[in-house]
Amino acid sequence: MTKLIISEKTKQSRIAPEIYGHFSEHLGRCIYEGVYVGENSEIPNVNGMRADVVNALRELKIPVLRWPGGCFADEYHWKDGIGPAGLRKKMINTHWGGVIEDNSFGTHEFFEFCRQLGCKTYVNGNMGSGAVREMSEWIEYITFGGVSPMADLRRKNGREEPWQLDYFGVGNENWGCGGNMLPQYYGNKYRQYQTYLRHYGQKEPFQKVCCGANADDADWTRGVLETTFKRCPDFLHGFMDGLSLHYYVHPGGWENKGSATEFDKNIWYQSLRKALYMDALINMHAAIMDEFDPEKRIAMVVDEWGAWYDAEPGTNPGFLYQQNTVRDALIAAVTLNIFNKRSDRVRMACLAQMVNVLQSVLLTEGSKMLKTPTYHVMRMYRHHQGARLLASRLEGNPEAGGGENTVPKLSESVSMDAEGVITVTLGNLSCESGETVEILTDEPGWSVSEAKIVAAADFHSYNDFANSDRVSELDFSGCEYSAKGLAANLAKSSVVMLRLQKK
Ligand code: AHR
Repeated sequence: MTKLIISEKTKQSRIAPEIYGHFSEHLGRCIYEGVYVGENSEIPNVNGMRADVVNALRELKIPVLRWPGGCFADEYHWKDGIGPAGLRKKMINTHWGGVIEDNSFGTHEFFEFCRQLGCKTYVNGNMGSGAVREMSEWIEYITFGGVSPMADLRRKNGREEPWQLDYFGVGNENWGCGGNMLPQYYGNKYRQYQTYLRHYGQKEPFQKVCCGANADDADWTRGVLETTFKRCPDFLHGFMDGLSLHYYVHPGGWENKGSATEFDKNIWYQSLRKALYMDALINMHAAIMDEFDPEKRIAMVVDEWGAWYDAEPGTNPGFLYQQNTVRDALIAAVTLNIFNKRSDRVRMACLAQMVNVLQSVLLTEGSKMLKTPTYHVMRMYRHHQGARLLASRLEGNPEAGGGENTVPKLSESVSMDAEGVITVTLGNLSCESGETVEILTDEPGWSVSEAKIVAAADFHSYNDFANSDRVSELDFSGCEYSAKGLAANLAKSSVVMLRLQKK
């Protein structure tokens, strides 16, 4: 039997709520149809935002939303997306399917959507094809309350008060779609662009996020940090508050990502092994960050993560629409456990993407909407937001899979919230057998106040519009008390959340 040893007396880093953040890009049916249908739509909406989607997302306690991209960000010109809807410029979305972007969802609509969600705002600026002035003026438009050309323009467009901007990204993937830059070149441009992102007196000044690496590109991390830290006053820590990291699980590699729904056991384990690789990536980049920033003032911002498969057959390949199975529930569970455990450095992460694109929490079809297995995991894990990580480890954790796709059978993380309630999240990565976990704490007397599970007998299971509840969050009845304490019987390929309270 595997033991989960928890030290409730050993409190570690705070799990920033923003680790449970999301990402929404002008890509496929994420923004248009998924989020925004316009005020005249027959689909119930509030100021154009789908009411069903907003209601479902509010249950997740979404802490932060990143927008407008992604690769789209580096060809987005924000002035095209303000003013009377009918007069907004139309453009081609060259990255994503070559479709017409009519700019009907722009800055005002993004802040309205975040208001409805009650979340923080993370805007990603255009460095790849936009000028310093354009980026600088966007900040002025969003955040300045006084008299100035951009603040006056905002007022002319119907918004008197500035909005609260929480994070601003200076370019996206500038090593690739954001300009194919070299790290030193980007580092220098970052220094220049960020200089003109003025703080106009918001109570909580926005934080600047510098473009970090793709997966294991340590050369980028080092090159950017060497450039931004050179001749930079110590208190400005490389002119940044966050450094991003992007990592996607492509089970068969970039060229042969594989189907979202049709896979065998070997690909199941291969996918989970690749998801677990997030831990090594965080360690690799965090070690370099430690050299420049040993006090951890700069947050690691994993602002794109998730599984990326072949697009659903019959859909536009440029729209990146994919189904979401129990495998995705496990990918989310292990990744979030890793983020929790590295919350000393990882202080924001954004799942890619929110609706209808890649590893989404929601899928829509016309007026219908469904919650994916990933949604249910994000919901169960919401209790970790803002809680303190507790020291915890597994003893006797068996292996699952085999050969190069061998993975530890269980994944875990544990936290304690302000009320002293412990949240335990566990994933059983085996699609072949269950596992009993004995849960041991420093002191006896903890009992289960709430227990939930996401699982399905068939690990290919997913929700579709004919059957939207095949995989959902259910009450978990697999806990047993013994003389030694508590044991949880985890079904194969399951994710379990336990809340423990002192009796
Ligand atoms: O999320 C889809 C794309 O993946 C984003 O636009 C880009 O940043 C990344 O390569």
